[in-house]
Amino acid sequence: MTPEMLYALRDQAGVPAHPALFLILGVLTFALHIAAVQVMLGTSALTLRGAFSAETHWRRLAAAMLTTAKVAVSVAIVLGVAPLLFVQVIYDPFWYTSNVLSAWWVIGFIVALIGGYLAMYMFYWRNHDLVRDGARGTAWMAVSVALLLLVGFIVHSLTNQMLFPQDWMQWYAPGGAIDPSGRSLHYWNLPRFGFFIALSAPVTGAWLYAYRRYLIGAGEADAAYLDWVRALAQRLMVAGGAAALLLGTLWMVTLPATMAWFATSPWVWLALAALLAVVALPLALGPRLDRGFWGYGIFGAGALALIVVGAAREALRYGTLLGAHGYNALDYRVQMDWYSTVLFFVTFAVVGGVTLGYLLTVAWQAGQQREGAYTPGPRVTALGQWSVRLLVLWTLAYFGVGLWVWLR
Ligand code: HEM
Repeated sequence: MTPEMLYALRDQAGVPAHPALFLILGVLTFALHIAAVQVMLGTSALTLRGAFSAETHWRRLAAAMLTTAKVAVSVAIVLGVAPLLFVQVIYDPFWYTSNVLSAWWVIGFIVALIGGYLAMYMFYWRNHDLVRDGARGTAWMAVSVALLLLVGFIVHSLTNQMLFPQDWMQWYAPGGAIDPSGRSLHYWNLPRFGFFIALSAPVTGAWLYAYRRYLIGAGEADAAYLDWVRALAQRLMVAGGAAALLLGTLWMVTLPATMAWFATSPWVWLALAALLAVVALPLALGPRLDRGFWGYGIFGAGALALIVVGAAREALRYGTLLGAHGYNALDYRVQMDWYSTVLFFVTFAVVGGVTLGYLLTVAWQAGQQREGAYTPGPRVTALGQWSVRLLVLWTLAYFGVGLWVWLR
């Protein structure tokens, strides 16, 4: 594929704001997506490990982790859509070709995702009181984890096929005979996939520190359980961090020739330093973990480290497509559209901020109240009323502008 052919595959309408904006938003939202995916996988694995245990601490943890996993799947899906939008805007020649080459799997992705989510609910419906009774049968939860991993593997493959324009013709017409079925995934790198999956352990360790701090805030009386959770969190961070490091190293040494430059670039050292700093943070904080926001801070620091990892991953893609294929994602023709750009940020910051702020505050405060029914105070109630008003206003503006453009 010559650079001219790749540029010809671009959307001739251009992009509605500077491509750097899409690149940065892509990195930020990918970091959030992968954090949610890692919490989802880690809490699912802890559910599997704990639900069948004879130990009450494990069973109690499994019950809490199953609740987390159910929510994390939906958060991972919602936060997966965002990087999907950005990647297809500035890398459309690559993303769509990769998708068309494996179209069968792109549709299969949705089926596997629905199956994985349903299987998790099947496990939940069959096991209502994990703390008291433990679980009956591993099957549903194991099927759920396997299908969710398959979903991740498909995205991994699509993301990587993008980076090999030199192989597309061979994949589309092996030996000169066209295969339009889209039934094959053509490229994967197991150490790279394993690296992102293994990071689930330290990220879930950081999540457990926050869970523990939350329990302390709610007046948890079982000190032995709190100590046990802390020891488990630390083990997950150290052992999981080491596994991720190993897989990350393997990824670097198995990089194909067009990407080998990346292994010695500063990006790798930056990502490594960020991850190591997060693993060391709980040790540095010591007893402060139980006070203020420090216990939550480890997960916050983990999210920042994932942004650094996401930036490095983006540097690999941008640098490879520019260096080896002459495609510069940042020279996309800009057709500035202020309305859609402003609408995006207002939706994100104002509508999203107020609505999510309300939901999270209610969930948080309800969980922190041990006795009696929870009733939100006047400020929280006002926030809830504003979130409804803003959603109505947003809907009116959205359809109003559409109608105005249509009737004009
Ligand atoms: C629920 C199970 C899921 C898992 C385990 C998962 C896992 C992953 C992993 C491991 C990556 C990084 C791949 C790599 O760089 O090699 C990734 C990237 C990504 N995922 Fe997910 N994912 C899941 C669901 C979703 C969903 C439902 C969506 C979309 C709605 C989505 C959209 C994306 C996008 C857009 C990227 C980045 C693409 C890019 O930058 O090229 N994922 N995911």
